[in-house]
Amino acid sequence: MDLTDRRILVTGGAGLIGSHLAARLAADNDVVVADDLSKGARDRVPEAATFVETDVTDPDDVAAVLDESVDTVFHLAAITDTNFDDDRVMFERNTEMTHTLLERAREVGVDEFVFTSSSTVYGEAPRPTPEDYAPLEPISVYGSSKLADEALLSTYAHSYGIQSWVFRFANIVGPRQRGTVVPDFIEKLQDDPETLTILGDGRQEKSYLHVEDCVDAICHVVEHADATLNTYNLGARTTTSVNRIADVVSDVMGLDPEYEYTGGDRGWTGDVPKMRLSVEKLAALGWEPPRSSDEAVRRAAEELYEELR
Ligand SMILES: NC(=O)c1ccc[n+]([C@@H]2O[C@H](COP(=O)([O-])OP(=O)(O)OC[C@H]3O[C@@H](n4cnc5c(N)ncnc54)[C@H](O)[C@@H]3O)[C@@H](O)[C@H]2O)c1
Repeated sequence: MDLTDRRILVTGGAGLIGSHLAARLAADNDVVVADDLSKGARDRVPEAATFVETDVTDPDDVAAVLDESVDTVFHLAAITDTNFDDDRVMFERNTEMTHTLLERAREVGVDEFVFTSSSTVYGEAPRPTPEDYAPLEPISVYGSSKLADEALLSTYAHSYGIQSWVFRFANIVGPRQRGTVVPDFIEKLQDDPETLTILGDGRQEKSYLHVEDCVDAICHVVEHADATLNTYNLGARTTTSVNRIADVVSDVMGLDPEYEYTGGDRGWTGDVPKMRLSVEKLAALGWEPPRSSDEAVRRAAEELYEELR
């Protein structure tokens, strides 16, 4: 697909990844951002895009932004908080959004759909995990909701001709992110520069990708992969431990705190302690992560500290 001169709907376009993606797409396309601002911020939406406050679980709201004039949907909206307090609501809303959008796309004949899934669909799979790894056994309700979404995408792709691109992301980091490990450490160290409390044992180890690289990879895959259903992992080739993130954040802030651990091998129920995705399929399509996971973390730590200081 050529990502120019198209009319594109970006759901979740006021969030971390959606706002960067909308800015990138708006340079060459007519972009509408739909977000309910439950977590995203209005001022993150790029000026070059049209913003419509939209709850994408609501069919009437969706009908207002998704009609036959739209060429492609990039669906990024989701409840993303790992500590969201109602699993049932998270599962229902995340799957309802995807189903409502797909059903409306089918109704009005929009046949290109891009979806942001997650490495959490793999659960505690062997690493590096390739896209065709099975069985998929997520261990969090968030991961379950993404796997259910993927099942819907597969159905609409194969039965209703909606060509789809599914991205299983590693951990994405970047400016204005909140509620994840890098900004959390910065805020904790601003409160107490002497001691940093780390969830788990600090040895959790995951792959981190900077949001700019993430957006670049999404566009590359959408432009180059042309199957009915295209599923791609998206991450760095390397991983970074939580202890290493603590070291990087402390270094960026010029501090040397003592670390305290809450204990156990994971940060919270449903946390996958070790995650690394195979990116061979992505590399075969001609996209290579330009930074290591450690470099992505350092860059995000510098950007976030600049914002939060
Ligand atoms: N950031 C990561 O590390 C990561 C990893 C794996 C997958 N993902 C997926 O990528 C996508 C984007 O993630 P992000 O980090 O930018 O998250 P984010 O929370 O910053 O953005 C999600 C956006 O969706 C919006 N939203 C939530 N419910 C909505 C609704 N009912 N209607 C309309 N908008 C709604 C929020 O207001 C927010 O702006 C999500 O689907 C997420 O699950 C992200």
